[in-house]
This record gives sequence, C-alpha cells and structure tokens, in this order.
Amino acid sequence: MKLKIAVLPGDGIGPEVTEQAMKALNAIALEFNHQFSFKMADVGAIAIDNSKTPLPDKTLEECKASDAILFGAIGDPKYDNAEGDIRPEQGLLKLRKELGLFANIRPVKAFEALLEFSPLKKHLIRGVDISIYRELTGGIYFGKKETAADGSYASDLCEYSVTEIERVAHLAFKAAMSRRKKVTLVDKANVLETSRLWRKSVTEIAKSYPEVALEFLYVDNAAMQMILNPKQFDVVLTENMFGDIISDEASVIGGSIGLLPSASVGEKHALFEPIHGSYPQATGQGIANPLAAILSASMLLEHYGLYDEAELIKEAVEKSLKLGITTPDLGTKHEGITTSKVGDFIADFISNPSDSNHNFSNIHIGQSTII
Ligand code: IPM
Ligand code: MN
Repeated sequence: MKLKIAVLPGDGIGPEVTEQAMKALNAIALEFNHQFSFKMADVGAIAIDNSKTPLPDKTLEECKASDAILFGAIGDPKYDNAEGDIRPEQGLLKLRKELGLFANIRPVKAFEALLEFSPLKKHLIRGVDISIYRELTGGIYFGKKETAADGSYASDLCEYSVTEIERVAHLAFKAAMSRRKKVTLVDKANVLETSRLWRKSVTEIAKSYPEVALEFLYVDNAAMQMILNPKQFDVVLTENMFGDIISDEASVIGGSIGLLPSASVGEKHALFEPIHGSYPQATGQGIANPLAAILSASMLLEHYGLYDEAELIKEAVEKSLKLGITTPDLGTKHEGITTSKVGDFIADFISNPSDSNHNFSNIHIGQSTII
C-alpha cells in the first residue's frame, strides 16, 4: 500500500517520540512491502517561531494532501501567558476543526507487564480494555469566547448540535459491536442542557444497535468509577472536555501517560497522536517514552486495514515492556535505555521478531546487536 503521511512533530519531546514512530513505520514498510512517504511540517510553538502562526497554511495544505497525519506534541511554556490565537495549542485545535476530525479514539489498556506501575491495585486493573470516544470539534472548546476589555469577566460557551452528537455516537456504537457491546455515555445531564441533548440523541441512536447495552454516568461519578472499577467500561462515549479529562485520568491505569495513543478521525482525514503533552522539561534528554507515539502509528495502520502490521507493532511494544526495554518513567530495569533505543528495539523486533526473541533472555543493553 502507498501512504502519504504528513508528519507534524511539534514541540518539546514531540520530535523525538515521532522519530521513533517513523522508525516503526519504516520497518513495517520494509517488511510488508508498503510505500510510506513522509512530509514534515511545523505546528505549535515551533511554527509560531518560524512563521508567526501555530498552524501555517502550508502545514494545513500538507495535511489535506496526505492520507494520514502523524502528530507529536504541542506546547511551550514560553507561550503560557500568550493571548488568543498565538498559543501553540491553537494550532492543534484549528487543525482538528479544519480537517473535521470529530472523533477522538483513545484506547486504554492495562499491560500485564506494567500492572506494578499503576498506583491502582492490580486486581482492579488487570484486564482493563477501554475505548474512549471523545467528541473533538465541538462543545466548550469551540463555542464563542469572550473576555471583557477590562478583564473583569470571561465566558466560554458550550454548544452541541444533534448532528455533532450523532456522528461520533455512531462510531462508538459500531466499535462496541466488535467489542464487549457496551457503551457508557458520560455527561452531566443533571445540570447541563447540552448533556441532556446528548442523552436524548444517543438514546435514539442506541435503537439501531439493539445488541449494545447503553449506560449513562454523570462525569463526576465516572471520574470515581474509572479508579474504583475500570473493568466495568467497554466503550466510553463523551463530549470534548469531559473526554479530555477522563482520558488523562484513565491513563493512570496503564501505568504511564507515555503509553496512550489516539486516533482523531473525520469523514476525510485522520490524525494519529499520543495523548501526552510536549513535556518541555524532558526535551532532548532521551527520557521521553516513545511508546504512545509508536502505538499511534499502529492505530494509523489499523485505520487503513493493515491489521497484521498494526498487530506486529503492538507485539513489539509488549515485548519491550516485558523485557524492560523502556524509558525511566517505567522504571530502570536496564541502564541507559533512551527514547531512541526503545525505537530501535521496536524497529528491530518488527524486522526480525523470532530472531530477536531468541536473544532477549541474555540481553546486554548497549552491546546486543538488537539494540
Ligand atoms: C489533548 C490535549 C489538547 C486538548 C490540548 C493540547 C489543546 O490536552 O489532546 O488531550 O485539550 O484537547
Ligand atoms: Mn488532554
């Protein structure tokens, strides 16, 4: 398969983790005879520095002309107090809106090898497998924003239309059909009009998926349930801001936020990005966990129906976790495992899974041929 991929590494650790995702994709291309071409483009703080805007037209054009977008991370503390459109994050929000990426899919899994790493008790998280469907181009993120000239008042409007709710809900129900057939709608319908509209619209849609059980949960309760009993969740469907918050919370189950990938999809375009931020303090130190970026590349392949390829990346990731070939956020089983070495390991596994397997038991980091 030929795929044109726009690569937007962004800020902070974005470039270094994205590089590892590209290594994985290159290894896949080689192994499975695909042609993946990459076009790099600026977004976020780096784009502000270079072109005075967080999303240059050139970048947007590049994305529109591509089959998929691989995104790193965005944000730089030097713009923390910047106003309005000049914030790096605005680049990502605009990109989501312009490309119509209305559904953000965030899988949350407890990896067996990492159960120790979660602050949650093992018996609570073992076997957790959740897919969060977060609406991505509506709600309070995109409603009218106002600040009084004298700074004494500010407002963010939260709006949803039935169409906006329905399109992401359909995707969530379809996903549930091939999973454990349960959708939990997370909202605040006891207080918010928009949430009441979500309940009404989603209840209607559920009628077309009679095999899928639909449950409702207020977001405050959902936040608690995510920690108390995460195994109860299969597909979680929610609006933009609740999804942002709940998915960060859910990342604790996996043991590190550096493990969670995501796919943002619309009718025409698809973007793949780790859910973590730009972690500016770690930039260039080789300590950033590239697995979320690498798993995002796996989601990209899945999106194009390349299931064996996607699976092989996941296997490689599981192997690296099992062997402790991981960055320090997941402990230091071996010394000196950098972001780049994790990427090399994953690419090596892809090129030679059985051979690498053979060497794994006596691995000497830094000396082994597979590193
Ligand atoms: C995310 C991020 C973004 C969001 C920021 C960077 C605008 O936190 O993708 O979850 O809030 O959606
Ligand atoms: Mn977030």
